[in-house]
Amino acid sequence: MKLFIDDLDIEKVKELWDLYPVDGVTSNPTILSKTGRQPLEVLKEIREFIGSNKTLMTQVVSTNAEGMIAEAKVITDAIGKENTYVKVPANPQGLKAIKTLKKEGYQICATGIYTVAQGFLAAQAGADLVAPYINRIDNLGGDGIQVAKDIQDILNAYHLPTGISSASFKTTKQVIELAKYGIEAAAINVEVWEAFMKNEVVDAAIDKFNSDFEGLVGKNKTFLDL
Ligand code: G3P
Repeated sequence: MKLFIDDLDIEKVKELWDLYPVDGVTSNPTILSKTGRQPLEVLKEIREFIGSNKTLMTQVVSTNAEGMIAEAKVITDAIGKENTYVKVPANPQGLKAIKTLKKEGYQICATGIYTVAQGFLAAQAGADLVAPYINRIDNLGGDGIQVAKDIQDILNAYHLPTGISSASFKTTKQVIELAKYGIEAAAINVEVWEAFMKNEVVDAAIDKFNSDFEGLVGKNKTFLDL
C-alpha cells in the first residue's frame, strides 16, 4: 500500500517523512486553506522537499470541465507533471474533464467519492486513481470500507488499470482494513499517522529491554560503549 501524508504543513511533512515510510503528499483546497499561504508557493515547496520521484496531489477548484483542464496545466507547470496527480471531483463536469486530461497525458485522481457508482464511472472515464472518502461515508451512515472494497471488486472484474487512493480516515483500523484488501494507496492525516505507532505497552517493553541491558553494562551504555 502506498502511504501518503494528507497535509501541507511543511514542518509536519518533514517530521513524518523523516520517521515513516511515506510515498507522497496529498491535499485538497481545505488543506491548502489551513496553511494560510499562497497555494502554488506551498505546493512548490513540498515538491522541492519530496523530490520529483514521489507523489504529490492537489485538487482543481473550477466548476466546469474547461476550467478544470486549464487548472491542471497551471498546477503541473508549477510542480511538474512527473508524479503529480491532479485531483478532479467525480461529478459530471469532472468526468468530462478526466476524459480530456487523460488523453493529454495527465495523471488524475478522481476525488470526493461517496458512492460506488462515482468510483466506477471515474475509472471508466480514465482516472488513474479514485478516492473514496471512508470516514465521511461512515458519518453519513454508510460503510466507507465496503464502498472502497466494492469499487476494487469492479476494477478487478474488468481488469481496469485504475487504483484506489483511499482518503478521509479517522482511525488506523480503517487504513489496515483496506490494506488487508490490497487497496493501492491511503491518504492519511497527521493525527492518524501519529496514532499508528502510539502504544504505551510497546514503549514499556522497549524501556524494560534497555534498562535490563543497562543493568548488565552500566547506565546509558549501548553496544557502542563496549
Ligand atoms: O484529502 C481528502 C480527504 O482525505 C479528506 O479527509 O478528513 O476532510 O474527511 P477529511
